[in-house]
Amino acid sequence: MSILQKARQYEESHIDDIDSKPEFHVSPVIGWLNDPNGFSLYQEEVHLFYQYHPYDTEWGPMHWGHYKTDDFIKWEYLPIAIAPDEEYDLIGCFSGSAIEHDGKHVLFYTGVTESESSNNGSEILQNQCIAIGDGIDYQKPKENPIIDGELLPEGFSNIDFRDPKVWKEDDVFHMVVANRNNDGKGQILLFQSDTLMNWKFTTVLMEYKKQFGNMWECPDFFKLDSKHILIISPQDMMARDLEYHNGNNVVYFLGEYNKEQHVFEDETSYAVDYGLDFYAPQTMQAADGRRILIGWMQSWDTKLKGADHNWVGMMTIPRELKLINNRLIQTPVREIEQYRHNKVNYVDYEIKGHTYVEGISGRTIDMMIDLLNGEYSTFDISFAQNEDYRVYCSYNKKDNILKFDRKYSGLHRDIICEREVKLASNTLKNIRVLLDKYSAEIFINDGEQVLSSLYFTPLEAKDIQFYCDGSVNINIEKFDIIVHR
Ligand code: FRU
Repeated sequence: MSILQKARQYEESHIDDIDSKPEFHVSPVIGWLNDPNGFSLYQEEVHLFYQYHPYDTEWGPMHWGHYKTDDFIKWEYLPIAIAPDEEYDLIGCFSGSAIEHDGKHVLFYTGVTESESSNNGSEILQNQCIAIGDGIDYQKPKENPIIDGELLPEGFSNIDFRDPKVWKEDDVFHMVVANRNNDGKGQILLFQSDTLMNWKFTTVLMEYKKQFGNMWECPDFFKLDSKHILIISPQDMMARDLEYHNGNNVVYFLGEYNKEQHVFEDETSYAVDYGLDFYAPQTMQAADGRRILIGWMQSWDTKLKGADHNWVGMMTIPRELKLINNRLIQTPVREIEQYRHNKVNYVDYEIKGHTYVEGISGRTIDMMIDLLNGEYSTFDISFAQNEDYRVYCSYNKKDNILKFDRKYSGLHRDIICEREVKLASNTLKNIRVLLDKYSAEIFINDGEQVLSSLYFTPLEAKDIQFYCDGSVNINIEKFDIIVHR
């Protein structure tokens, strides 16, 4: 049996275990999941692949797991697309992207392989490869790898050369890939091709910038309104004030792109997400033109997992991107509204001290809160709560800082639990809390900033409690999200 068949069979034998899984966030059937890959439209359906090690709840030789959807919320399982089964990718099929071309679905990934080094030892090399398929089965052509170290300019190496993101523009295929410069620091390369098989190096699209860590991973480059955005996931970043505490962070650069000269001039940069668990996002353009982003909701350092789960890792909710006042605005895809049930609504409700609000509870919810007038310094929302547990967000009005805290989420080991975000606007006007069993995505002020974090609190802890040290009036709109029953 081939490596792919074996992996497919193994995965399929675990398919019915859905009870422990999130309700609407992509998670693996069994084993380990990391980065989203190949997020793309193919024959009018949205496909999502992911870095996958089915045999263990730890990272291992990477396969590409596979789902599809027609609304970004309800995902249909498909068999594993590619496995590490060729000499050029035996160590793993690393991250990449996908496009539709001539009726085929074309995947671009990094093949990782061990090869002899010049001093008679061995080294691990990374090259760009493709796999061509029909939405279920994919073949690796004999031309692989399509881009190897030979195509790199003098002095660049393919020891760290990965995560191709491909798009087609003006009849030319473009690819951005992460690499290291001669000092071992991150840089983003641009390649072009007319044929998909023959590529040439075009330019260094972004050179290393000092405060942005070391190796950069998972680049994405796209136009949003009148600007261009380059997203990268830098490793080993040093924190500054309240920014970039994750070690592995995600940063977006916003600027102007001269596509004739291939020059990207960045003007500003911000973190994409301020939570404890967010990395390696990727975007796609939906059929109606929306730019949608999905990320891996996990951190390489904590790798938080459910104690008795045979799976690890999940994606964020797909998010619609907009540009307002030169900032990236993220909101959950609007399709989630089709899965809202059991509406509970309050207008101008006063929160004073600790307050439970009738009908407001649950672990799989979409809840919008508007903060109206009030005299206070602290306003908290606790969730996943009972007498033993609580996860909460606390807004400090004077400092204009929102804190997320999972210290009392039921942890048995000492891991990082708190993250604070200084609000971009001068006050907290509204907050949207999207919970799915083990995750919270907190959208601040209409999506101007987002915090995504995990917690594996026992599911019976489902109370929600508000707290205000003075008093504040709020509007609440809360729904249960039900996808699978
Ligand atoms: C990012 C990353 C990528 C790589 C993949 C391997 O999380 O390190 O750079 O392709 O994961 O699984």
